Amino acid sequence: MIIEPRTRGFICLTAHPKGCEQNVINQINYIKSKGSINGPKNVLVIGASTGFGLASRITSAFGSNASTIGVFLEKPPKPSRPASPGWYNTAAFEKEAQEAGLYAKSINGDAFSNEIKEQTIELIKKDLGQIDLVIYSLASPVRVHPETGVKHKSSLKPIGGSYTNKTVDFHTGDISQISIEPATEEDIENTVTVMGGEDWKFWIDALQKENLLSPEAKTVAYSYIGPKLTEPVYRKGTIGRAKDDLEATAFDITKSLSAINGNAYVSVNKALVTQASSAIPVIPLYISLLYKIMKENNVHEGCIEQMQRLFADRLYNNQEIKTDDKGRIRVDDWEMREDIQAKIKELWDSATTETLGTIGDLEGYSNDFFNLFGFKVDGIDYTQEVNEVVEIPGLQ
Ligand code: NAD
Ligand code: NA
Repeated sequence: MIIEPRTRGFICLTAHPKGCEQNVINQINYIKSKGSINGPKNVLVIGASTGFGLASRITSAFGSNASTIGVFLEKPPKPSRPASPGWYNTAAFEKEAQEAGLYAKSINGDAFSNEIKEQTIELIKKDLGQIDLVIYSLASPVRVHPETGVKHKSSLKPIGGSYTNKTVDFHTGDISQISIEPATEEDIENTVTVMGGEDWKFWIDALQKENLLSPEAKTVAYSYIGPKLTEPVYRKGTIGRAKDDLEATAFDITKSLSAINGNAYVSVNKALVTQASSAIPVIPLYISLLYKIMKENNVHEGCIEQMQRLFADRLYNNQEIKTDDKGRIRVDDWEMREDIQAKIKELWDSATTETLGTIGDLEGYSNDFFNLFGFKVDGIDYTQEVNEVVEIPGLQ
């Protein structure tokens, strides 16, 4: 079949295996070009198939020759329908890892469930013994709680009052006003249940109970802060409450890892186009201005550049890990630079459907969005039929 993008709002229903593979190869080449990192040896990545989790896995494997186990939730291909992008990404990653002589295995299923935790534990016992880095990079709209069976849905709402601001439809470039009604207490609780720290703690507790974490093991989860401009819908909204909870959980986990001298960190990453962030109102407009300004200042990064810097300059630089006054690692430092944010604030007011094409990087946004699904990737001939069924070699 010939695979073309089929978008519906901020999702794309199709994905291209060759484009996804090329994206992974580009990320691997980037990591190799930066030289080796004196990093982890056995790594578990939860949320390993796309975005920051995939980039963390690639950085571990190709920066430090680490053995990696990846957990994710992706759709395999069917005769009539391509797989989800994370499936193709993982297939490409594992193929490259195997060729490089690196151990890489994957588990496809609900990371929030007890079954998937047990399956992962069995695999670690069988193959790796102990893990020295656990990356927690899930982004999910729902979580079935393993103890109650209740399905919680997260939301992206302001707290305390409704919020009105500009947003962009990144397919058309149309800027419009959007108003979002405030969250209820239940919305807040549900969002914290899905995207807060509880499941991260469950994972680490389960691993520790089985003695699967090596001395001085580290675990890292990802957070976001962003500017005042997006606070009502992000950091001071429902998702922000979940991030507050995630950040607080890092301290709980560190305490519980004291016997092995382990540490839990939250890394605050930069705003990037991923499947998760495209769904948040207002953020795509912010990102298209941010991209333009960061590119002009030569400080633009994608997921792989961010994770390379996290590993090489923060986590494994042979020095004490630098954190902010709340104990968080910051790789959003360039995004949050005063001059960059001042410029965005200035442009925000003048952003209209007419001006965005020149003052913002709508094209960069759109391109990155299609790239997530393996489309518009340089060097791929999209007129070619793709017929082979793509398998993940180390899928359990
Ligand atoms: P993403 O959508 O690219 O990746 C999410 C991953 O989670 C995928 O591997 C997916 O398969 C997996 N997943 C989702 N539900 C699952 C489930 N039930 N079981 C197993 N796996 C599941 O998202 P991302 O943007 O890379 O986000 C990762 C983390 O980084 C999130 O905590 C997010 O808040 C944070 N972050 C994102 C940004 C951004 O701008 N995108 C910025 C800073 C921090
Ligand atoms: Na991820």
